[in-house]
Amino acid sequence: VVGRVPLIAGNWKMNLDHLQAVAFVQKLHWALKDAKHEVGSVEVAVFPPFTDIRTVQTLIDADKIAFSLGAQDLSTHDAGAYTGEISGAFLSKLNCGYVIIGHSERREYHDETDEVVAAKVQAALRHELVPVICVGETLEQREESGPTAVSVGQLEVALEGVPSGADIVVAYEPVWAIGTGQVASPEQAQEVCAALRTVIAEKLGQDAADRTRVLYGGSVKSGNVASFMREPDVDGALVGGASLVVDEFAAIIRYQK
Ligand code: G3P
Repeated sequence: VVGRVPLIAGNWKMNLDHLQAVAFVQKLHWALKDAKHEVGSVEVAVFPPFTDIRTVQTLIDADKIAFSLGAQDLSTHDAGAYTGEISGAFLSKLNCGYVIIGHSERREYHDETDEVVAAKVQAALRHELVPVICVGETLEQREESGPTAVSVGQLEVALEGVPSGADIVVAYEPVWAIGTGQVASPEQAQEVCAALRTVIAEKLGQDAADRTRVLYGGSVKSGNVASFMREPDVDGALVGGASLVVDEFAAIIRYQK
């Protein structure tokens, strides 16, 4: 992690309406404050549903809460007749810094191909949003082609046309570990995260590989986060279920190596 600020990101998925979001962000802020924990050494980001983003942004700005804000998806288009879509321009205007792209749930339930993911990465960069590019294999794919091939292939396509100076985050989320409680071992996470960093080096250059944060996601909890963070190529966590429980997410943020 040397030189890279760890990123602990909470992907709320389709949970917490805007009132629940207000309560959650306030409680999390206070949970971290009460403990007098220096959160400065770790970046904390929350990814609420679209309908909560304005509410959370207002709260963060008004109370000077040091959380970064992101969305869970965006359109490949910037504006126009695309009913139901949300553009990167809209997200930027709400002070979103990040956007998750290519989550396995989008790939599976919305047929997002690697090419669509690549187009969304370009859309994010057009609007100065940092794409959090998610990759990961199913159990069958792991058994068929080994631990790294699928993630490496997905990332190679996602990085097509990305300039070397671009600010990106990559998240390795093995599909078999998402929401299942079946967590990857730290060694398994490290192996794939290291392979992904090599892809970044090949595509964007060594400087980009050195500065880009590569996260692990999949059943991360307060009890296992430190074991991942000890790995040299794991720079943070993308947390689903455990990011919805204030005390648990606060404990993840306060991980000790
Ligand atoms: O994006 C985070 C995610 O898919 C992991 O979910 O519930 O296994 O932490 P979970």
